[in-house]
Amino acid sequence: MILATTTRRQIITSSAALAGAASAGFLATGAQAQTSKLRVGLMLPYTGTFAQLGVAIENGFRLALNEQGGKLGGREVEFFKVDDESEPAKGIENANKLVQRDKVDAIIGTVHSGVQMGIQKVARDSGVLSIIPNAGLGAATRALCAPNVFRTSFTNSQPTHALGPVLLAKGQKKVVWISWKYAAGDESLEGFKEGFIAGGGSIVKELGLPFPNVEFQALLTEIAALKPDAVVCFFSGGGAVKFLKDYAAAGLKGKIPLYGSGFLTEGVLEAAGSAAEGVMTTLHYADSLDTPRNKAFRLAYAKAFKMQPDVYAVQGYDAGLLLIKGANAVKGDFTKKVDLYKSMGGAVIDSPRGKWTMSKAHNPIQDIYLRVVKNGENKVLSVAAKALSDSGAGCKMG
Ligand code: PHB
Repeated sequence: MILATTTRRQIITSSAALAGAASAGFLATGAQAQTSKLRVGLMLPYTGTFAQLGVAIENGFRLALNEQGGKLGGREVEFFKVDDESEPAKGIENANKLVQRDKVDAIIGTVHSGVQMGIQKVARDSGVLSIIPNAGLGAATRALCAPNVFRTSFTNSQPTHALGPVLLAKGQKKVVWISWKYAAGDESLEGFKEGFIAGGGSIVKELGLPFPNVEFQALLTEIAALKPDAVVCFFSGGGAVKFLKDYAAAGLKGKIPLYGSGFLTEGVLEAAGSAAEGVMTTLHYADSLDTPRNKAFRLAYAKAFKMQPDVYAVQGYDAGLLLIKGANAVKGDFTKKVDLYKSMGGAVIDSPRGKWTMSKAHNPIQDIYLRVVKNGENKVLSVAAKALSDSGAGCKMG
């Protein structure tokens, strides 16, 4: 589904204006770079189990820009939107709609790691600037890294890296892992294993189901029979709500402690209600972070969008901050790629999550928090990992 924010009439008007300017000889390339609107493509899920994640990312991104008067490096911004439906099979085609048809200067997207693979290919082939505001696909900032690709979120193994020691400290050594079977689930498991197996933990069973299925019943029955010390999972969005509710309804809540990559309890707390209370997770953000930066962000977001922000809103906001930094460094001239990428690569982002820096492979180096859901809020318990960076293994910036 295509959601064009520009009406046909506007396109015709602006291309007519461009034609006029060209014939009047105004469009020397440098001048065009400075005066025409900057074209920003949003490739996000607006339907399906991750629909709310897409909306939160767009809201956060727009908030950052609006705080700068809606401009990037002095240029007005025109948005082009594609609903990627979290459908990996359409990833390349959808990214090409933005790059080839809409001729965007930058793509902001996406949420789903499988779809990100398509964007990554298009970004590498076309050289268009790509900012990843969620998808944790490791390869994007490892073997398939690129000078024009930057991430403001995480690699899938980062949030779960610090979770193992939390369980081990409680004597919970035998666990069941459960997630959707695709890159995000698999790589979250890898991250969990890093801190859990080495410390003496064992995973008695790895359970999985295809994305975005939510038929959890048989798997929950199996968990009950296995009687592990704890259950650890990766689920997100609509699927996370269903999992939390089904876990409680199956009578497992309160009997077998449930942990997760922190996405389990992001953007879902109202819908999940009491089923989410007490669930402990690790993530690079928490609602309750007691800093002026986070409080100001939460207030501004709630005021602008009449809803509470979550980690996705923060990642979208930070994508905006990063793009603003780059655009200011080149005064809106995106043809100055070397300077643009240098500025973005050296970014220190003053984020609601806390300050973070960009690794050489263009992935955040950031703190990971241990959180618990209390009274419908993700509350910080401690910093589970300080300035955690991803290995960036295999990344060579060509
Ligand atoms: C992913 O597919 O990389 C992904 C999706 C949703 C999340 C986190 C990661 O909440």
